[in-house]
Amino acid sequence: MVKQSNASTAMPKNKWPLILLVLFSLSTVMVVFLRATSDYCNTSTGSSTEQLGSEDNQGKAPIHSTIQVGNSAPSPLEFMKSKLVLMVSHELSLSGGPLLLMELAFLLRGVGSDVVWITYQKPSESDEVMYSLENKMLDRGVQVFPAYGEKAIDTALKADLVILNTAVSGKWLDAALKEKVPDVLPKVLWWIHEMRGHYFKVEYVKHLPFVAGAMIDSHVTAELWKNRTRERLGIKMPETYVVHLGNSKELMEVAEDSVSKRVLREHVRESLGVRNDDILFALINSVSRGKGQDLFLRSFYESLKLIQEKKLQVPALHAVVVGSDFSAHTTLEIELRKYVADKKIQDRVHFINKTLTVAPYLAAIDVLVQNSQGRGECFGRITIEAMAFRLPVLGTAAGGTMEIVVNGTTGLLHPEGKKGVMPLANNIVKLATHVERRLTMGKRGYDRVKEMFMEHHMAHRIALVLKEVLRKSKRHS
Ligand SMILES: *[C@@H]1O[C@H](CO)[C@@H](O)[C@H](O)[C@H]1NC(C)=O
Ligand SMILES: *[C@@H]1O[C@H](CO)[C@@H](O)[C@H](O)[C@H]1NC(C)=O
Ligand SMILES: *[C@@H]1O[C@H](CO)[C@@H](O)[C@H](O)[C@H]1NC(C)=O
Ligand SMILES: *[C@@H]1O[C@H](CO)[C@@H](O)[C@H](O)[C@H]1NC(C)=O
Repeated sequence: MVKQSNASTAMPKNKWPLILLVLFSLSTVMVVFLRATSDYCNTSTGSSTEQLGSEDNQGKAPIHSTIQVGNSAPSPLEFMKSKLVLMVSHELSLSGGPLLLMELAFLLRGVGSDVVWITYQKPSESDEVMYSLENKMLDRGVQVFPAYGEKAIDTALKADLVILNTAVSGKWLDAALKEKVPDVLPKVLWWIHEMRGHYFKVEYVKHLPFVAGAMIDSHVTAELWKNRTRERLGIKMPETYVVHLGNSKELMEVAEDSVSKRVLREHVRESLGVRNDDILFALINSVSRGKGQDLFLRSFYESLKLIQEKKLQVPALHAVVVGSDFSAHTTLEIELRKYVADKKIQDRVHFINKTLTVAPYLAAIDVLVQNSQGRGECFGRITIEAMAFRLPVLGTAAGGTMEIVVNGTTGLLHPEGKKGVMPLANNIVKLATHVERRLTMGKRGYDRVKEMFMEHHMAHRIALVLKEVLRKSKRHS
């Protein structure tokens, strides 16, 4: 007994640089996929100039597939064997939309589909990320074709299935296919990950009513699309399928390895100067009003006041904001620093630069705060990532979060906006003071992920959709 426990505590100390190396390279992929996704569904209805999902393009990490090919359980996508699938992406970058589509491309390659990839908005100068992603796909047997010209048209006409990714990809249809558009529409599956107002535009989605189906990441986003297309554009959605996302195998591997988790936890806490029994509440998203870091810090400050007023005995509380970019000099970044300085809580608030590597932070913290404002997240993949790490979630009662977090069971919900500041503060105090409750909620969140939000769940749901779409397009041809 004694020997064993010695061994297990001594081992990581000696080997942790190695373990960390392994973990970081291992976690790169899932982090790349998932990190980008949670930033993807930008819900603000503000200006429409921002390029879709471009926030996290700076990462240059090598990409590996998250999909294990040819492992034991038969894939629910088996029926796609030798089917020709054309995938059309508006861009090829490390942002959520393209990476999700790539994930699906590799799943389909794994069951023997022929997959052709088209990126229709290419940067003018050569782009390192795009180059490495293209090579990655070629390595995995995905063919990469130019967006325009005979080859593209031919493939579209021959394909069993065409998957358009994101709303803006609608522009490719006319530009590339011209008079052939009507021949292709009946076999198009349109995968939509957007919620922002400026995507509800006829120039993007005028062909939407005539495609075989739309696939959307959450019920609330699907409802929004139904409503907006009808009320604002006067068009009807095609058959719409809601497909929740799932956690990759790589993420689950780290989340379920207690030694790795402990090593990462110690490492990150040490670098933050935080004690082992301090309680860390983290918000992990690019800093922006839409993600609600400002309101989170206000709630955090209020929770410290409550604890002081009520003279509660709790370990030190810390707020961690992962996803900061102070060099961008945005007013919000400056405002957050100023707020922390004014309230004199510098020793309790930690800003962490934007990173593609979130696993160490998920291992190090105790509670995830999902404070997305307005309509909330379209889905919010960070939420299921955190639950995989057995973290309870304090989330806004909005968007996809409501479909993931069970209020009172796997986390606690608060209203979005200023009216949510005190409820979130109270929830922070609740989880800080009730250790048992916090741990139980984390465990239940993990159970829920295992039950609903794993990669195989997603593959199964996608398989049902693809079957439907194939059936319909056959009827047409
Ligand atoms: C969302 O989009 C708005 C307007 O395009 C932008 O100002 C904001 O920073 C974006 N938020 C995120 C989280 O990317
Ligand atoms: C559709 O959205 C409008 C506001 O944009 C709202 O007033 C209406 O209740 C919504 N309809 C449905 C059926 O949700
Ligand atoms: C975070 O980014 C800032 C610039 O925005 C830089 O000065 C700082 O060194 C970075 N911190 C780390 C730990 O990389
Ligand atoms: C969440 O549950 C709490 C009680 O546990 C309740 O006060 C609150 O209204 C609920 N919020 C939502 C959005 O259901």
